[in-house]
Amino acid sequence: MLAITAYGHPILKKVGEEIEKDYPGLDKLIDDMYETMYNSRGVGLAAQQINRPIRLFVIDASPYAEEFEEAKDFKKVFINARITSLEGEEWEMEEGCLSVPGINEFVKRHETIRITYQDQDFATHEEEYSGMLSRIIQHEYDHTEGIVFVERLPQLKKMLLKRKLKDISNGISPAEYKMIYPRKKSRR
Ligand code: NI
Repeated sequence: MLAITAYGHPILKKVGEEIEKDYPGLDKLIDDMYETMYNSRGVGLAAQQINRPIRLFVIDASPYAEEFEEAKDFKKVFINARITSLEGEEWEMEEGCLSVPGINEFVKRHETIRITYQDQDFATHEEEYSGMLSRIIQHEYDHTEGIVFVERLPQLKKMLLKRKLKDISNGISPAEYKMIYPRKKSRR
């Protein structure tokens, strides 16, 4: 289990750097990210959330399979991803984030994306996603661009969440998994 960086941690603001095939311990890192994600009941996890400023995220959307057909058996690693277009109407859905425990808010996102990325063998893919997968990918992709979902909320909503967000940064959080807090030593 890796510790997850909490809201306010400076690494969550870092735009990820591209990595090469020889990135040290990449396969182990990806395995550890999946394990950490499953243990904390997430459907996605980005490198910034485990304290690495690189362009890497993992997704397993299967918990949404009943509600969203496209989520069935969707498990994927995205390396050096770039979203090349956002299309279709924006729609709202409630999102949460392992770095922001206890906060769930409606976020507007585009229906369809086109994305280029490399897989774990560094083969390049260009794909299009819609619906729930598009949403999950956009959320994780945002992390690699230094953006946490609460930063996409309307100003008033952000103001109302200010206290809660500050608490999380200070280590007051309902998370049952290990976290790295920016203003508190990590729990052992
Ligand atoms: Ni997140």
